Amino acid sequence: MLIKALTMIDFRKYEQVSMEFGQYTNILHGENGAGKTTILEAIHSLAYTRSFKTRLDADLSRHGQVGYQLKGVFANHQGDEHEVRLKVESARKKTVSVDNKNLSSRAQIIGQFPSVSLTPEDGELTFGSPEIRRLFFNKLLSQVDPVYLEQLQTYARILKQRNAMLQAYANDGTAIDRILISTLDDQRAQVSARLHEARSKHLTEFKKLLYSAYEQLEQEKSLKMAFISNVRTTSGDPEGHYRKAYQDSLAEDMRKGTSTRGPHRDLFTFFLNTKDLRKFGSQGEHKLVLVAVKFAEGHFLENFLNETPIFLLDDLFAELDVKRSLMIVESLRGKHQIFITATDLADLRHHGLNVEGDTLQIIDAGKIQAHG
Ligand SMILES: Nc1ncnc2c1ncn2[C@@H]1O[C@H](COP(=O)(O)OP(=O)(O)OP(=O)(O)O)[C@@H](O)[C@H]1O
Ligand SMILES: [Mg+2]
Repeated sequence: MLIKALTMIDFRKYEQVSMEFGQYTNILHGENGAGKTTILEAIHSLAYTRSFKTRLDADLSRHGQVGYQLKGVFANHQGDEHEVRLKVESARKKTVSVDNKNLSSRAQIIGQFPSVSLTPEDGELTFGSPEIRRLFFNKLLSQVDPVYLEQLQTYARILKQRNAMLQAYANDGTAIDRILISTLDDQRAQVSARLHEARSKHLTEFKKLLYSAYEQLEQEKSLKMAFISNVRTTSGDPEGHYRKAYQDSLAEDMRKGTSTRGPHRDLFTFFLNTKDLRKFGSQGEHKLVLVAVKFAEGHFLENFLNETPIFLLDDLFAELDVKRSLMIVESLRGKHQIFITATDLADLRHHGLNVEGDTLQIIDAGKIQAHG
């Protein structure tokens, strides 16, 4: 997959700008605040209908404006081109179209224009709360398995309704409709079993890719990832296990005013030499795991979608040591379309990055000049 052209209107600091990209390595060069990350954010927003930084479209509209527009021309490995447009007119009105056909749900676009981003904010993936890892894996699996995305949405809807009842009970004793909650839990058990199955199956695949990516970066330590559910489903009939767990936890859930068990509490945990990375990992160890996760993400998408994802590498050289940054760029170069942001080109060259033949975009106060 590659993006050939991008137009941004009233997107962050850009009033109106169009640019074209090279097929392989694109270097976005400019001072701090010049608007480099914004370009990566625009590409991600087109492919996923959301930014990687915020869920609030109001933050993305240029200050003083309500709304923004993005347009991207993507091409797959067979050369088929698709024009994606995203238009936000107000907090309530957002339309996404592919080849001039408006989409009615995110599921219609997720997985079509795969990309992998590595930004300073991604550090949260290994440092942050379990919620962040759940979101990461949900996004990844949704791209290769549209049914998974649908089931997640169903699960979220049921959970919201259930939690509202529990909360009303915990707050002011509003009686629980036992029949309704038991119907909800039957439905929830059914979706939970399917989510569980999909997670187990896909993560087995993901883990293989993760371990081999990590091994290339670091041979001295061993990385393991575990998928841990708070409902045991070891012996057959997973749906039955979930149903029972939901019945058993109802009293506690009523006391706490929330649903304590189920896939929304699943854990995805990294272990380095058998120790929980989140608790014991050093900064450098976290970074290496993160990079391995991103490589694995890329391979996973490629295997399932038969399309090489676009790599959006923000501030790579500031984040990682030179040796490993170079290794990443070199291993992707010529196979993927990659975007690298940089404030100091001389520094990149000094570190041994050969930018000959790469597409260089100089970004200066919302204006863009292309070279090469
Ligand atoms: N909604 C907005 N409207 C107008 N300007 C914005 C908006 N959001 C962010 N900006 C401005 O855009 C600039 C940030 O752009 P961006 O993050 O793309 O820069 P960058 O080139 O990646 O910088 P750095 O090298 O520091 O990471 C900042 O000057 C910021 O104040
Ligand atoms: Mg930036």
